[in-house]
Amino acid sequence: MQIYLNENLSAYHTFGIEQSCQVLVTVDTVAELIDVYRDPQWQSLPKMVLGKGSNVLFTEFYEGVVILNQLRGIDVREDENHYFLHVQGGEGWPELVEWCVSQQIPGLENLAMIPGCAGSAPIQNIGAYGIEFQDVCDYVDYLCLETFQVIRLNRAECLFGYRDSIFKHQLYQRAVVVGVGLKLTKAWQPRLKYGPLQQLASSCSPAEVFDCICDIRTRKLPDPTRIGNAGSFFKNPVLTEAQFQTLAANYPDVVSYPASSGVKVAAGWLIDQCGLKGFQIGGAAIHEQQALVVINRQHATALDVIQLAAHVYRSVYEKYGVALEHEVRFIGRGSEVYLDMWLKEQQS
Ligand code: FAD
Ligand code: EPU
Repeated sequence: MQIYLNENLSAYHTFGIEQSCQVLVTVDTVAELIDVYRDPQWQSLPKMVLGKGSNVLFTEFYEGVVILNQLRGIDVREDENHYFLHVQGGEGWPELVEWCVSQQIPGLENLAMIPGCAGSAPIQNIGAYGIEFQDVCDYVDYLCLETFQVIRLNRAECLFGYRDSIFKHQLYQRAVVVGVGLKLTKAWQPRLKYGPLQQLASSCSPAEVFDCICDIRTRKLPDPTRIGNAGSFFKNPVLTEAQFQTLAANYPDVVSYPASSGVKVAAGWLIDQCGLKGFQIGGAAIHEQQALVVINRQHATALDVIQLAAHVYRSVYEKYGVALEHEVRFIGRGSEVYLDMWLKEQQS
């Protein structure tokens, strides 16, 4: 366990924005994680677990303990039909996917190059190119912050949805994911439904799918090691059929997909059609290649990002009547905060 006081967080989150926290602690074992939560010197402070910081924006100085997840280890078992992986929460997700491809363990390749830790993957049920974490998840192990026992949830119990899971609701702030179990079939079939993947032959290999995904992502998404960002800033809004029909009547070109509870609309398209690609406030800008991504173009502050996000929100709402919800988690002084709180404050 390493402890740092008043640590600058810019190296610990992919937006790369200057912001500090009162205490930063690294944890390598579940026992250390428990020690941090039980330590009397930090009892009164808010605490949050951080993976690779690829889905967060620290909006202010964090007056609490940031716990860096460094739980490492991967176990692989197999039977006649499946590979079973048990992955500790602090393992890197993109490294895991690449390693599986190199070991001829197929099934994760569509989720290549998604930054973050394996333990963060279930939180928002990461997804890309036709697959979500729930499609490969067998179980999730979490440390219950009330009993300090590790509890296993099977896939159904995780209540996965689009960028959603039980960890954002019933278990919010009551659980730390310490490990995930993946179940990957040996009867692998490529998943090629998503647009650009259709160019691949149905006889393609997992490595070919992996390479294709890496190629698409490298072209579209900014590399956070060079340009700070947190991936898609907003979620794609899911509209009711009636709301969608109204929108489509006025904007027949709107890009949409069927969703389990309505119609999912491409937020990137909505933002792009507002003419916002490249739009900049302070050092924060809308990415030129992908309007759903906010970048730290030039020493952006958290306020630059918030003001830009507010401008995007208002522009889309005024033009289409669609309220965007941010996917990126805003971490305030001692708790999570939301853009609509900030928008309301501006109005009053
Ligand atoms: P962090 O940002 O560190 O944490 C995110 C939230 O989860 C925080 O609230 C944190 O407190 C909480 N948390 C983290 N670990 C735990 C834990 N062990 N237990 C409990 N709570 C925890 N996402 C997609 O779904 N699909 C994509 O295609 C995609 N592409 C991206 C591309 C880029 C370039 C970037 C920068 C991001 C992208 N993302 C994508 C978002 C991001 O990669 C995922 O949300 C990822 O799972 C975040 O992992 P992390 O370890 O960085 O989480
Ligand atoms: N589009 C535009 N202009 C843009 C961006 C997008 O017109 O600037 C339109 C295009 O028509 C495109 C459509 O929007 O066909 C969808 O765009 P894209 O395929 O790039 O996907 P996305 O909906 O913007 C989602 C996820 C990504 C994930 C990709 C691939 C969300 C919020 N985002 O993006 O996840 O990688 O699909 O599956 O669901 C993330 O969550 O951080 C993330 C990057």
